Amino acid sequence: MNSKEKERYIENFAFPFCDESTKYEKVAKIGQGTFGEVFKARDKGNPNKYVAMKRVIMENEKEGFPITALREIRILQLLKHENVVNLIQICRTKASASNKYRSTFYLVFDFCEHDLAGLLSNVNVKFSLGEIKKVMQQLLNGLYYIHSNKILHRDMKAANVLITKNGVLKLADFGLARAFSANKNGEPNRFTNRVVTLWYRPPELLLGERNYGPPVDMWGAGCIMAEMWTRSPIMQGSSEQQQLIFISQLCGSITPAVWPGVENLELYKSMELPQAQKRKVKDRLKPYMKDPYACDLLDKLLVLDPSRRADSDTALNHDFFWTDPMPCSLSNMLANHHQSMFEFLAPPRRPSHMRTHHSLPGTRPTTSAVQDSSYQDRVF
Ligand SMILES: Nc1ncnc2c1ncn2[C@@H]1O[C@H](COP(=O)(O)OP(=O)(O)O)[C@@H](O)[C@H]1O
Ligand SMILES: [Mg+2]
Repeated sequence: MNSKEKERYIENFAFPFCDESTKYEKVAKIGQGTFGEVFKARDKGNPNKYVAMKRVIMENEKEGFPITALREIRILQLLKHENVVNLIQICRTKASASNKYRSTFYLVFDFCEHDLAGLLSNVNVKFSLGEIKKVMQQLLNGLYYIHSNKILHRDMKAANVLITKNGVLKLADFGLARAFSANKNGEPNRFTNRVVTLWYRPPELLLGERNYGPPVDMWGAGCIMAEMWTRSPIMQGSSEQQQLIFISQLCGSITPAVWPGVENLELYKSMELPQAQKRKVKDRLKPYMKDPYACDLLDKLLVLDPSRRADSDTALNHDFFWTDPMPCSLSNMLANHHQSMFEFLAPPRRPSHMRTHHSLPGTRPTTSAVQDSSYQDRVF
């Protein structure tokens, strides 16, 4: 085959399991995440059907399809649940001379009207206590499901939580997710700890733990829970050191007394850890949350020692979800809002009073693996 014939062969090749992206018509850009752009698009064959298309970044790829995208796809294919975003298919652009015979690939998802960061940044969106309970119950249901399937999300934050117009919550962005298993033959796991957006990163990761598990996502769930009332992230550190200081100021000093074994973590001695700090989770959040059950559940999620942090099952059984007002659907409240709300489309979020304790960066950090210039390694 000469090169002209080869090019014609590539152009005409019909991939039976990978549709062309021309079956969708882009409507708007809705996300510019760390790893690529996301578009809202219409399914031409079914004009009432909308999808979200997430472009797979292929630049810098020397070895074909990126392994990180493959991992995201494999995990999304495994996870099928009401509270996890649904991957419909992978599609591609046709390879041609104009793109140097390199296709662009997209992950195609069922479209969700909002993300939680977008909703929280809009002051006109008001959640009742029952609606907040519904959000948290669905979020914890999603976590219960993925953790039962031995998947860690590793990037919990409001922008990665989607909400449909009917008020159904979907965990999204499995770009940093990975499978986990109990340590084999007593050997501890050695996962990368350079995951999770700084403001939602739990103390064990900040202290260098590599043998971590589902509690890393539960910390993020706690941060998101508080944010349902404060409307902006509760601990906005601008460095890992500062994040640890904010955590100590809210959750109390990080010591072996409250967290046996913490002294063995790699960075325990090299990080500055404020001493004699009292735990103030309930006191600081009570003015926002008011509901004592809410404060109590938050207190059990933002526990320093990961082995004592509530898991999703324990959290779902908390009285918060089983006392009046009971969790109630968001669909009526959302029916008042006709525009989609996404973090990407929202102005920077207004400062909350929680912030007055902190000096704050102007922009929201993204996932550490890419955000910090010191972090060059890819996440595997
Ligand atoms: N299925 C979807 N429906 C609607 N919006 C989505 C969907 N998937 C992603 N988005 C939007 O795009 C943003 C970025 O997508 P995400 O999967 O988080 O990628 P990244 O790794 O780039 O952060 C999300 O924060 C959300 O606003
Ligand atoms: Mg994201």
